[in-house]
Amino acid sequence: MDRKLRLAIAGAGLIGRAHWMRMVANSACELIGFADPFPSATALAAEAGVPLYPDLEALLAAARPDGVVLATPNALHVPGALACVAAGVPALVEKPVADSVAEAERLAAAVEASNVPVLVGHHRRHSAVLEAARETIAGGRLGKLVAVTASATFHKPDDYFETAWRRQKGGGPILINLVHEIDNLRALVGEIVEVQAFASHAARGFEVEDTVAINLRFANGALGTFMLSDAAASPRSWEQTSGENKAYDHHADQDCYIIAGAHGSLQVPTLRVLEYAGAASWFSPMVRSRVDMQETDPLARQLAHFCAVVRREVPPRVTVRDAMRTLAVTLAVAEAAHTGLRVAIPS
Ligand SMILES: NC(=O)c1ccc[n+]([C@@H]2O[C@H](COP(=O)([O-])OP(=O)(O)OC[C@H]3O[C@@H](n4cnc5c(N)ncnc54)[C@H](O)[C@@H]3O)[C@@H](O)[C@H]2O)c1
Repeated sequence: MDRKLRLAIAGAGLIGRAHWMRMVANSACELIGFADPFPSATALAAEAGVPLYPDLEALLAAARPDGVVLATPNALHVPGALACVAAGVPALVEKPVADSVAEAERLAAAVEASNVPVLVGHHRRHSAVLEAARETIAGGRLGKLVAVTASATFHKPDDYFETAWRRQKGGGPILINLVHEIDNLRALVGEIVEVQAFASHAARGFEVEDTVAINLRFANGALGTFMLSDAAASPRSWEQTSGENKAYDHHADQDCYIIAGAHGSLQVPTLRVLEYAGAASWFSPMVRSRVDMQETDPLARQLAHFCAVVRREVPPRVTVRDAMRTLAVTLAVAEAAHTGLRVAIPS
């Protein structure tokens, strides 16, 4: 397949636009249509100069794309991906992969029974920062992993909460934001097998949580703490420290994760390393250095990867089953916060 890949997007909203803009910048593919039943989509389709179909099925039948990006609301991810698999069309499905683990399992089984690849849009897996941090840890430089101190503390503006569902159960930072963080920590540290959590809505007073303190147990024996808040005047979030999404105020000198092993520790995203030259002891000086990294746009890299997946050159970097595990841990945090119990994540 030397010609340009003909890609389509279902869901002409916020992230649908972001995907289209990456397609414009990528000479290996072109957008050939949007599917979206709402009139608000007309303007974006006109701007992109492509047809607008009323639903995914119409798009699949009429446009016959090489691949589809599913940028629709969460509840439509599984039905949309199943329709693509049935039509034999590879899909990039936005995160979270599904609303429930059972739905994700249903999709994973269908994908595995087909020969149609499905990539899940955990775009930070394509981040150069995450890759460099992951290689540093996997290379053994920190020694056996011991402790993770992580945070996503930021302040969403008041008008964000004018939309009713964002003030209600399920609309809070656990299901909207934590899913990205859990995926990062799984990629960096390994599988998470048990969680505990305290949630509070004391800052905003809405039904939904605004702040959550989380404990994590990793399969390799390391423990982690995670502080999550969308009401905290603090930039210690991936968005504000990595600078990958230019929409957010960037704090290049701050970190959101500290990953400590028995020999050294790594701060992310600044990639500063503190390590012992000899035997580890708090009486001995630690050597400071920084891991080299070339900044990239994770969404652009994700699209380039998706093109390679569509061409069957590489398997999806984030499979449905992999994303299902991230979802299971995220839902376990919600359950732990709700019940006050420790929640184990089945393997
Ligand atoms: N990877 C990321 O960082 C990231 C960022 C934002 C959103 N997302 C995910 O992307 C998805 C969409 O989020 P958004 O912020 O763009 O939402 P949005 O509301 O801006 O856009 C969703 C679009 O889907 C359309 N839609 C609704 N029903 C449809 C249907 N049956 N067929 C086709 N289109 C339909 C809506 O009209 C809307 O245009 C969500 O799952 C969200 O979690 C991911």
